[in-house]
Amino acid sequence: MPVPPSAQVTVRSPAKINLGLSVGPPRPDGFHPLATVYQAVALYDDVTATVRDDAEVTVEVVGDFAVNVPTDDSNLAVRAARLLQAEYDVEEGVDLSIRKTIPVAGGMAGGSTDAAATLVACNRLWGLQLTQSELQHLAAELGSDVPFCLVGHTALGQGRGEHVTEVMSRGTFHWVFAIADGGLSTPEVYAELDRIRPLRRVEPPEVRPELLAALLSGRSAALAVAISNDLQAAALSLRPELGDTLQFGLDQGALAAMISGSGPTCLFLAADSRRAVDLAVELAESGLCRMVRQAEGPVPGARILPANVNR
Ligand code: C5P
Repeated sequence: MPVPPSAQVTVRSPAKINLGLSVGPPRPDGFHPLATVYQAVALYDDVTATVRDDAEVTVEVVGDFAVNVPTDDSNLAVRAARLLQAEYDVEEGVDLSIRKTIPVAGGMAGGSTDAAATLVACNRLWGLQLTQSELQHLAAELGSDVPFCLVGHTALGQGRGEHVTEVMSRGTFHWVFAIADGGLSTPEVYAELDRIRPLRRVEPPEVRPELLAALLSGRSAALAVAISNDLQAAALSLRPELGDTLQFGLDQGALAAMISGSGPTCLFLAADSRRAVDLAVELAESGLCRMVRQAEGPVPGARILPANVNR
């Protein structure tokens, strides 16, 4: 049965981490071919969309990282709304309000997930009734990580990351995130990777079979030795002090420590939720990072919240 349009919709959308991130040599279009395994984790941004009679698109940002987010046309959520308007001749507009708890420029797809949330919200708000696969297609135009943020859970990402297919994963993993001061620019991190590694020796990207086996087993100890990130060397080359944060987490008993995506957020795998709390406390007291967060994964992708949810 068709779902009627609503005057206001709130969509909750998760951060992502890359459990494996294998990066090939740059393509002619400048993007790098990837083989990555994404996991959505329970750190969320909420995007509330309110319909407007005119065609304007506005955005306000509130929450932990609000000051770092642009509110002009470069905002990826604004671009998502404009893309839908243009593709489907929408005459209405939207006021977007983003409540941010995902670090900005932290390598956790914060901007991409806001774009995914906006696609889902405006689809309902404007009564477009687009299918998941139509939304996926638009998402890929907005950014490499946006299609994954729509689906969430655990998925393989290929192409430049935009072709996603579900990966079987058992159980729940416990993550701790050390959020650094400042961000890292994703294009600069890719450029640094191309600078520091000899291009002739770069192999086509591939997912390690141990990683898929570890996810299927649901065992944190197996996952700990299977995760990897080709961008880590580049992020550490640009921000060497992040190496101290990674080592600190390992010294405190993390099963594994790694840069999240293009960084500078550091992620740590804990054996269980109690050890995750202990690690989060130690990291918070270390003075090595700006903020610490804990989250489980996997979780679903962008989804509409019931109207009466207390946020
Ligand atoms: O797709 P997205 O806008 O998130 O990418 C941001 C930038 O990251 C790109 O402009 C490109 O410089 C780099 N990138 C890349 N290869 C990818 C994904 C992103 O080089 N597969």
